[in-house]
Order: sequence, then structure tokens, then C-alpha cells
Amino acid sequence: MHILVGITGGIAAYKSASIVRGFSELGHVVKALPTQNALRFIGATTLEALSHNVVDSDLYSDVENVKHIALAQEADLIVVAPATAAFLARYASGLADDLLLNVLLATNAKVVVAPAMHSEMWQHPTTIENVAKLRNRGVLVVEPDSGRLTGNDSGVGRLPEPAEIVRSALAFYSSGLDLANKRFLVVAGGTREPIDAVRFVGNSSSGKQGLALAEAAKDRGAEVSLIAINIDIEVSSFPHTHKAKTTSDVQALLEELGPHFDCILMPAAISDYRVVNPASGKLHRAEQPTLELHLVANPDLLSNLVSSRKSTSKNQVLVGFAAEVLQPGDSLQALQELAKAKLDRKGVDVMVSNDVSGGSVFSSETNEVVMVGKDLNPIDFAGTKYEVARAILDYIKPLLANL
Ligand code: CTP
Repeated sequence: MHILVGITGGIAAYKSASIVRGFSELGHVVKALPTQNALRFIGATTLEALSHNVVDSDLYSDVENVKHIALAQEADLIVVAPATAAFLARYASGLADDLLLNVLLATNAKVVVAPAMHSEMWQHPTTIENVAKLRNRGVLVVEPDSGRLTGNDSGVGRLPEPAEIVRSALAFYSSGLDLANKRFLVVAGGTREPIDAVRFVGNSSSGKQGLALAEAAKDRGAEVSLIAINIDIEVSSFPHTHKAKTTSDVQALLEELGPHFDCILMPAAISDYRVVNPASGKLHRAEQPTLELHLVANPDLLSNLVSSRKSTSKNQVLVGFAAEVLQPGDSLQALQELAKAKLDRKGVDVMVSNDVSGGSVFSSETNEVVMVGKDLNPIDFAGTKYEVARAILDYIKPLLANL
């Protein structure tokens, strides 16, 4: 694919080098198009080396080849990062006073802009209007992150990490915002049931597959909330994050929030048991040479969601996840059968299962799953956790269309 990376004149322009490199390393043909002001922050030589293409941002050179039209027609995707407040204003008003803006006005390519500026500028009513105009025209405006800004100040306005921009732009190219207006709740991580003030009964879930699902849904335009169970996350990427530790925390959050979502994804490892009377202080071995833990079963949160959906007749898609331990020699068919049995037992719409024997999948960047659905053909899929997340969203998409 031909990708044009527009760069405007802000301090975050130095990060555009990694964006150019990111697309290039994935095998795309990349051209960098900095504005004259961007060249105050990053050198054309750097961009030429990383894009393997000449950088020419002069509107008035090479005019006999009608350069702005050629660039506009050859691009499949245009990504402007960073996009300054001044650029957003000029682009939203249809001004074409440099090569980048001329190309943008002449192109049919999908366009992504990643704004970066101080919080005051991002929150200024003019910028808010300009962003709304661009979004209405089908441009993907990547939300800036919160964090340290150029001075000593912090707040919303930072350019997201280059890898995140590359990922969101490519997702936008292939799926558009096909989940726009859908409200997703992702429950990610693993619960810890306290034994005393410092110890707990826990599990090996890293939360990575859940976070990948949240990112993939967000990249496709969904409004995503997250229940993050014992995982450290960059909350700036998910402003609607609720932190939880125990099954009872998650249960309370689901009772409060559950009814408000079109789709709830439950890749969380919810402890099946909790300690009946956890000690409020710290247990000491010298005082207690043996220790018996009295465990009681936790409620099944997913089945509770199914019951509450039934009692309120809400249209909602519920997706369960099951980590199974296959025996040596068992096939994916065996995993599918387990998934189907659990789908029926829990009454959810889709069950996604993987084989976790050996335990290496927990911290891994990749995963292999089978998906089964009430009225859907079973599918197997393997890939990075983000690719698996996209495949799961593709699988449940027909169910969401019925909402
Ligand atoms: N789950 C839940 N509440 C529990 C346990 C599990 O909501 N108390 C959810 C998990 O988040 C997951 C799905 O149910 O989405 C399947 O989890 P799993 O542990 O495989 O289900 P169990 O019913 O505990 O089945 P098993 O006996 O095989 O452990």
C-alpha cells in the first residue's frame, strides 16, 4: 500500500520518524511530506533515509508534473502526525496553501490525523469545532494522550506512541469505523482473593488479550470502557477505566455498569473461589505453623449478566472466554467441543477458547483461539493478540448489527 505521512510543525514532529519507519518496516511504500515548519523540527535527510524516498515539500517545484495531484492519487492512506492546531484549522476550512493541504484537498485516500498540542489549544472551542468538522467528513482523528507536555506542564495533548498511530491507521484503513456508536465493556486481567493483608489467591492472567480487545474495538470507532483487574495500564488510552482487585469488586462494577453496554467481552480470569475470612492483618508463620484456607465458590459473573439481560430484555452481545488445558494428542476439535459445551452452559452468544497447557500463552504476545457462537460457524484463528482481537470482533460483528 502507498502511505503518505504528512508532518506539521510541532515539537512532536521528531516522533514522525518512527511512524515512517513503522509503516516502512511493514512493507508499505512510504513517502514523507513535512511542511516547511515541520522541517524546523526534523530533517528531510532523516525522513528520506527512513522512507527510502525523496522528500520534497515545495509546492512550487516540479510543477510540470502536477505533483499535488500525483501524490493525492497514488496514496491509499494519508496519515498526518503530528497535526498542529493551525493545521487542523486550515484543513477543516479547506485552505490549500502548502503542498500537504493541496494533496489533502485533492485525494480520495482515507485520512488519519493525530493532533498534538498543549491542552489549552486542544480544548479551545475553535479546535473542538475543527475536529468535529473533520470527523464528520470521515477523517479519523486519533485522540491525543495525556501526560508530560513540552514544558513542565502535563495534560491531554501528547502525540500517542508511534506504534499506536501506525496500528490505528492500518485498522482504520482495513475496517473503517465499523463499530462506531457501539458501546463496549472489556473486563481484563485476573482477580486476586485476599488471604491476609498482603497475600492472595491469584492466577496467571496478564490481561494482554483483554487490552488488545479494548484497543482493537477503540481503533474501529467503538466507545470502550474497561474494567482493569490488577493490571497496570496507561489510563490515558482508556479514559473510562474502572480498576478492580477482587471478584466482588468486578461483580459490583458489572451490576452497576453492565446494562449500559451493547457488548461485554469477558476475557478476565475470575477466581472460582475466595477465602471465607481473610485476616485483616498479616499472618505470621511462627504463630501459625499450619494454615488451612477455607474457600467458598464465587458467583458466576457471566451467568449473572445473562440472567440480568434476560430480565431486562436488553439487546446485548455477551462474549465469554475460556482457558482450557488440553491433554497431549487432543486436537483443536476437542477445544471446539469444550467451547461449545461452555457456550451452552453459560448462555452467552459467543465463547472464545484457547489451550493454556504449559502456561506460556499468559505472557505471550501471540495466541491461538477457537470461536463458537450460537448461530455462527466455529472458527480457529492464530496471530498476535491484537490480530486475534480483530478476528474476534469480525466474528461477533454480525450479532452487533442486529442491535
Ligand atoms: N467467569 C465468570 N465468573 C466466574 C468464573 C468465570 O464470569 N466465577 C467467566 C470468565 O471471565 C470467562 C468465562 O466465565 O469469560 C469462562 O471462564 P471459565 O473459568 O472457563 O469458566 P468456569 O465456569 O469456571 O469453568 P471451569 O469449570 O472450566 O473453570
